[in-house]
Amino acid sequence: MQKRSGSSSAVAAVYAIHLQSGLPLNLYRKSLLSQLLNLTVLLLVSFLLPLSTLPSKSLFIANLTPKSQYRKAAHYNITHCRRQNFYALPAAHWQRLAQPPISYLETLDLVDDAIDRNSSIAREIFLASLSAVGLDEHPPDPSPDGQKHRLDWRGAATPQDMDKANTTIRQLYRDWSAEGAAERQACYSPILASLLSEFSSHPDKSPIKVLVPGAGLGRLVFEICRAGFTAEGNEISYHQLLASSFILNHTARAQQFPLHPFALNFSNHVSRADQLRRVMVPDVHPGGALQDASVGLAVHAFERIGMSTGDFSVIYNDDQHARAYDAVATVFFIDTAPNLLTYIETIHHCLKPGGIWINLGPLLWHFEGSGPPTTTTTTTTTTTTTAAESPPSSSEPPNPNLGISSPGSIELTHQEIIPLIASSGFSIAPATQPPPFRETGYIQDPASMLQNTYRVVHWVARKESGSASGKAQEKEKRETE
Ligand SMILES: C[S@@+](CC[C@H](N)C(=O)[O-])C[C@H]1O[C@@H](n2cnc3c(N)ncnc32)[C@H](O)[C@@H]1O
Repeated sequence: MQKRSGSSSAVAAVYAIHLQSGLPLNLYRKSLLSQLLNLTVLLLVSFLLPLSTLPSKSLFIANLTPKSQYRKAAHYNITHCRRQNFYALPAAHWQRLAQPPISYLETLDLVDDAIDRNSSIAREIFLASLSAVGLDEHPPDPSPDGQKHRLDWRGAATPQDMDKANTTIRQLYRDWSAEGAAERQACYSPILASLLSEFSSHPDKSPIKVLVPGAGLGRLVFEICRAGFTAEGNEISYHQLLASSFILNHTARAQQFPLHPFALNFSNHVSRADQLRRVMVPDVHPGGALQDASVGLAVHAFERIGMSTGDFSVIYNDDQHARAYDAVATVFFIDTAPNLLTYIETIHHCLKPGGIWINLGPLLWHFEGSGPPTTTTTTTTTTTTTAAESPPSSSEPPNPNLGISSPGSIELTHQEIIPLIASSGFSIAPATQPPPFRETGYIQDPASMLQNTYRVVHWVARKESGSASGKAQEKEKRETE
């Protein structure tokens, strides 16, 4: 897959996932830099630019550090604080709770062990990412005046970054553990079934290009490729990208890393054994599985898988991606849009006429409650910030495409979305009453006393042949004026 360039708001770069099978992990590490130079492996090609382009390197640093600091922060927040709270109990009480059968201090020791094991994969992800972009595991010391070196990545993580690192670790459970199979069966199998049914008459599926926006940790992309298609994931989060690259490119075997996905949470457990449950990742070795799946096929799976980074609604809106894909598959994705119309238009733009958009997911609008956009007016003496409550004047120039950074947001219902898609150049079955729901969790602990279950919808929309994209319509309009 080619490398693409992008804007700073959406760093667009495609890495071909460079899967290998059977090689020991240290070989992957040693060869990382040369792989990078060949532009075959790592994600963020923009980070390879000279050090003068530090904004992007800093961005990388800010996104990378949580995985290195995961262990320290988790020990502090999870067990250290609990020990303090425990010893703050009346002495007679904590002494009783320290004894069997509760032995709470032993539980905290076991949670510490679980954190250490979680941090071993976090550290592998971190090291693979560091060396790939030429950062040193042991960063330069501060200058004599105490000034931190610009490439010193230590201590840059924010609490928000830590949350993201935690979520990424738990997503490994969803995408890459045997125990996550039930969620994958509920969420990814219907997508594969729709693809296989749509393209059943194609014995060679390698020319069929499937795009997966919001690919998360890459399992659906991997499965689509394993089924014979050409699969391209897209993901905006560096945390997810670094983790998916690690699993796909750098794991040496199935069951390589232990993970305790639920150990850091102390609520709603039936037993400590449930809390401390261990899973192994990855459940399959991606390189080996794709190697096996390539036997007898015209195009090897390694040539049919890739990942792009950046905002889907920016990257895939350009001329290069017009009518480029036979199918777009969105899983738990459309509700990440502040303005769903931009996603609908982008999908329409990048699908071939007759191509299909397969969707599965809920409507947990990620931008709900993010507050109104504000306009700031500054005079010599005052600065006034106001939220617009009326439409702007029509004489305002159109905004450049800022994707999800564009101002404004709206939360729609399923019944509103279906006709919106139908009037955007797609044919789609009208919403039935009620729509056919499927029940599934998302990174859900199946043993928990709290079960968050989504009733997700699954539908397939087809781009009508001859329907021009929003962009093409605009162009036509300009030409006739
Ligand atoms: C709820 S997760 C779903 C991940 C995956 N599809 C799954 O089912 O596990 C949504 C994903 O979309 C990504 N995302 C959100 N907005 C995006 C955008 N504008 N472009 C690309 N990815 C985006 C997020 O980083 C996140 O990984």
